[in-house]
Amino acid sequence: MKVTWVLPGGEEVMADVQTGVNLMEAAQANNIAGIQGECGGSLSCATCHVHVDGDWLSKTGEKGDFEEAMLDMADGEVTDASRLSCQIEASDELDGIRLVVPV
Ligand code: FES
Repeated sequence: MKVTWVLPGGEEVMADVQTGVNLMEAAQANNIAGIQGECGGSLSCATCHVHVDGDWLSKTGEKGDFEEAMLDMADGEVTDASRLSCQIEASDELDGIRLVVPV
């Protein structure tokens, strides 16, 4: 499936991501600046914060309570579209998803 990251300067990076890989790992594999993933996806750093673009948000499922709490510590503006990208798994349903890296 394809994922597009929109970087703070407006540049877009599109990459093929294997189904089952979480989107923080996919960002690391593609050197997306601003997505660190310091905790390795264990939901304890919030450095994988993204804004899910438009209608894609509803397809990513519900945030868990713990993810919600961790988002309070995230860098960048936290909005209704905020997710921790380590909690989103690549799937055919998300093919084409756009993730905005928060400023
Ligand atoms: S990588 Fe640490 S919370 Fe997502």
